[in-house]
Amino acid sequence: MLRLLTAGESHGKTLLALIDGFPAGLTIDTARIDHELARRQGGYGRGGRQKLETDTVEILTGTWQGATLGSPLTLAVVNRDYKLERLKEVERPRPGHGDLTGAIKYLGSIRGVLERASARETAARVAAGALTQQLLAEFGMTVFGYVVQLEQIAAPPRSGSIDELRRLRDASPMYTLDPDADAAIVARVDQATEQGDTLGGIVEVQVHSPPFGLGSHAQWDRKLDGLLAQAVMSIQAIKGVEIGLGFEAARRPGSKVHDEIAYDASEAGQPALGYVRGTNNAGGLEAGMTNGQPIVVRAAMKPISTLRRPLASINLATKEAETAAYERSDVCALAACSVIVENVVAFTVAQALVDKFGGDSLTEMRARYDSFLELARKR
Ligand SMILES: Cc1cc2nc3c(=O)[nH]c(=O)nc-3n(C[C@H](O)[C@H](O)[C@H](O)COP(=O)(O)O)c2cc1C
Repeated sequence: MLRLLTAGESHGKTLLALIDGFPAGLTIDTARIDHELARRQGGYGRGGRQKLETDTVEILTGTWQGATLGSPLTLAVVNRDYKLERLKEVERPRPGHGDLTGAIKYLGSIRGVLERASARETAARVAAGALTQQLLAEFGMTVFGYVVQLEQIAAPPRSGSIDELRRLRDASPMYTLDPDADAAIVARVDQATEQGDTLGGIVEVQVHSPPFGLGSHAQWDRKLDGLLAQAVMSIQAIKGVEIGLGFEAARRPGSKVHDEIAYDASEAGQPALGYVRGTNNAGGLEAGMTNGQPIVVRAAMKPISTLRRPLASINLATKEAETAAYERSDVCALAACSVIVENVVAFTVAQALVDKFGGDSLTEMRARYDSFLELARKR
């Protein structure tokens, strides 16, 4: 069983990811983790914090000579902006944050809540996800996330090879696959910045070449669509998750939704074993199991809750009406969100992979994966 816990405050000493159940024998490429951490800090519309921090990962436990041991891994992303002990209490809770509710629930300070509720925590989840992307790559899987909509502006994904799409995305200020939408997106973020407002949008993640049968129909808490929805919904500011067509499936008749099945022997060597579909409206998941098609997950991000032109609130000490507190903040963190969703999806799919093929060593996992494909081909 592959598990993840994170720890750390936004302005504390460090963010930590504790990963248990990761197989032995994977040589970790820390540059690839740092690359994802750097992408998480990028994108148009970010606040000053991102310029202060240059995140890098340090692996504290669980490796020997650069390879995993099968023992718990601890990944650290040290905060260059450590100042928690010097920070003052916040008195005016910000609508859209856990400030008010957390202070009441824990009978404590707003500061104590916002420091942990902050999306800075996702640095630890991205580090963990980037590590599991390396495990998925050992089984031929690629995970790829991008932005498809900012507020009202659509940026539909293009088709092409993963390398072409990666080049498009990495050249885009908002990590879209649609260069035609980028100018309008940048202009809208500039306008919101000027107005002291904030923006959200929609991101999409695809997982290519999953084998059949990750997740299970047999029990509700083993269904991979449900597990993905929980993991993605737990990301700060995510308010909706769709798999495949998602909500659009409810607006169509069955004949325009379900992906018809055919067989092409020339594709039998692929993880989909030659079973082909003309469409992938199911987003690669039927009855909670991967069906050999790419997994497609979309997530809706609400606009950032801290506005430079603050919303109405109260002073928690006096109960008098005041405007909400303002701290240095992003206007739009949608590009970063695409990186976070990508890596959270990667971790969840890796959990399902370890569940199916075992988590002691990479060598044993590979042998089980190969023997499963061989058996499944004879089915
Ligand atoms: C990448 C990313 C960056 C964020 N940056 C900020 C920010 O600068 N200021 C802010 O008020 N909220 C920011 N948020 C959103 C809050 O973390 C989030 O809305 C808050 O913790 C409340 O959680 P909820 O929206 O899931 O209910 C960010 C979210 C993400 C995913």
